[in-house]
Amino acid sequence: MTKQHKFFAVVSPGLEHIASRELESLSAHNINIEYGGISFTGTIPLLYRVNLRVRTITRVLMRLRTFRSMTLEGLKYDLEKIAWHVFFNENTKLEVEVHTHHSRLHHNDEIAAFSKKVILDCLPKIGSQAPLHTQTLHIRIDNNRGILSLDTSGERLDRRGYRLASGKAPLRETLAAAMVQWSDWKPEQSLLVPMCGSGTIAIEAALVGLNKAPNLRHNFSFLHFASFKKKAFNIAYDKCLAMEKNIPLHILATDNHDSALAACTKNIKRAGVEHHINVRKQDIHQLKKPITKHGGVLLLNPPYGLRIGDEKKVLSLWVDIGKILRQYFIGDHTWKTVIICPDAKHEKALHVPVKKRLKLKHGGLQTMLLEV
Ligand SMILES: C[S@@+](CC[C@H](N)C(=O)[O-])C[C@H]1O[C@@H](n2cnc3c(N)ncnc32)[C@H](O)[C@@H]1O
Repeated sequence: MTKQHKFFAVVSPGLEHIASRELESLSAHNINIEYGGISFTGTIPLLYRVNLRVRTITRVLMRLRTFRSMTLEGLKYDLEKIAWHVFFNENTKLEVEVHTHHSRLHHNDEIAAFSKKVILDCLPKIGSQAPLHTQTLHIRIDNNRGILSLDTSGERLDRRGYRLASGKAPLRETLAAAMVQWSDWKPEQSLLVPMCGSGTIAIEAALVGLNKAPNLRHNFSFLHFASFKKKAFNIAYDKCLAMEKNIPLHILATDNHDSALAACTKNIKRAGVEHHINVRKQDIHQLKKPITKHGGVLLLNPPYGLRIGDEKKVLSLWVDIGKILRQYFIGDHTWKTVIICPDAKHEKALHVPVKKRLKLKHGGLQTMLLEV
């Protein structure tokens, strides 16, 4: 159980530093930011803990083996070295995902089919019964250097399961959690989320404030590894429950659209944080700074004017938001504002001094977090 394994956390570009701090706080070792994610080492109980508790990581891969081969025969040698019975059983549906770059081996479909056959030859019982769960092997070959990794998370970890109802342009849960962490909001402070949409930011903040692990209900693929350690998992799971705090939070989520508020209310309930978030109908133009003891944080994800035609209207809303920020929030050191801003045009419309920025990608598009 104390054997150290190599892992790789996949994150959306831009979230690497926030995610690596999460891994540090969970006592991962040898944390190293690499292209597309973070490598780290640790035990199997650490793997369970990380999957249950990380907020900003998309998935966790277990690195099985590195190789240097330019032929399928060479790849076969490396595939045969892995003890597949540790992971797969008769109910496993095996999938192989291949990415190649600048390499002699570059026919991805051929590599995937070949690898699957080699693994099945090693362990013929794989999938011999009705397939009940999928396991995904990732083969990445870059400049003829390969790496074989097994996915441990299953469905992406940002799919927390609470957001069945969604408004317009919902934010990925991992990005919403990153926004909360980047803002350094403290649970005793007020948190305002005007333009809350389906409630993602407010829900992620409540989960942070209550120290609730975000992925307790996730169907991780490691649960179906042949070597799954139920006792170790139960210990990690129970520890998550024991760490939860039942403290009062001061989170207010508002929006001016009834359908967004309806989705938000349902999602908050599904996430089990309905006693910790107030939801109210309010137009951003009515936003005022509440009087608070410990100051507060304002988190904003306004609509973007990406479609031509909408742009003028949306940019004038950003101009108004800038005015509201200058009137009530900017210059008050007890309040901090973080806003998701897609580009320089929207930033210009806002017309407020930027203290800090973080470049990110969301749904393949470049965007930024601005602290103003
Ligand atoms: C980009 S969406 C927010 C998405 C949200 N973060 C989520 O995860 O669902 C922008 C939200 O701003 C709201 N909105 C647009 N104009 C508004 C206004 N004048 N006052 C208040 N809310 C407004 C829309 O109804 C929409 O829900």
